[in-house]
Amino acid sequence: MVTPQEVKSSITIEEIIIRGNRRMTIHDLNLLDQHARAIEAKTLVEIGSMDGCSSMVLGQVARDNHGELWCYEPRPKGRWFQNIKDLDLTANVFMRQAASPWIPQKWLPDKPVDFVLIDGDHRTTRAITDYVFWARFVRPGGKIAFHDIDGGKGVAAFVRRAVSLCVTDDNLKNEQGPDYEIREIARTPEARDRGTIIYEKVADSSQWFPSYACGECE
Ligand SMILES: C[S@@+](CC[C@H](N)C(=O)[O-])C[C@H]1O[C@@H](n2cnc3c(N)ncnc32)[C@H](O)[C@@H]1O
Repeated sequence: MVTPQEVKSSITIEEIIIRGNRRMTIHDLNLLDQHARAIEAKTLVEIGSMDGCSSMVLGQVARDNHGELWCYEPRPKGRWFQNIKDLDLTANVFMRQAASPWIPQKWLPDKPVDFVLIDGDHRTTRAITDYVFWARFVRPGGKIAFHDIDGGKGVAAFVRRAVSLCVTDDNLKNEQGPDYEIREIARTPEARDRGTIIYEKVADSSQWFPSYACGECE
């Protein structure tokens, strides 16, 4: 278990939270940092960036691993661009102004993805759509995180429903699958709101579409 101070950062995690308008808690950011670093993630994707709280943490992972963080956000804030510039992350973090999953082919990562954070449109069908669209790009052993898993009302209830449906469906063993075989590997301590849950894509056995569609694959 990492403590807040263990997040590898050129500024304090508290400062990231303030700069990012408190969209994530210290527990969320620790978990994302720890799990992205554990697999030496080089190709990372973020759905929903707003002011850049998670972008700053995942962007530093990308920078330290000489990789890239691709951020998809239809309404990026000026503060996001300022934060990425101030943390000297512009060589490793890229904004693509688009609503997932309606993303032009040329803006999709051209390598298998190591780590995806889903934190965009939180409605159940939209979170499911993000998962279904992005999971195929994730390499076996890669990770998929959902934010806003905690809370009794509001978006968390929608996200939990989405996660439950996705996990159940993808681990089904019927004539359609299993597609991915994903398993929960971590989540933040139970909280009143926010909260992050992380899945590992253990295997990819879909017969219906390529493991991951990217420039390096057939
Ligand atoms: C909760 S905020 C994200 C917070 C961010 N991850 C952070 O740490 O600061 C959700 C964001 O998702 C964006 N969003 C909504 N629909 C989206 C979509 N279809 N694709 C990508 N982002 C979307 C919203 O504009 C909003 O900025």
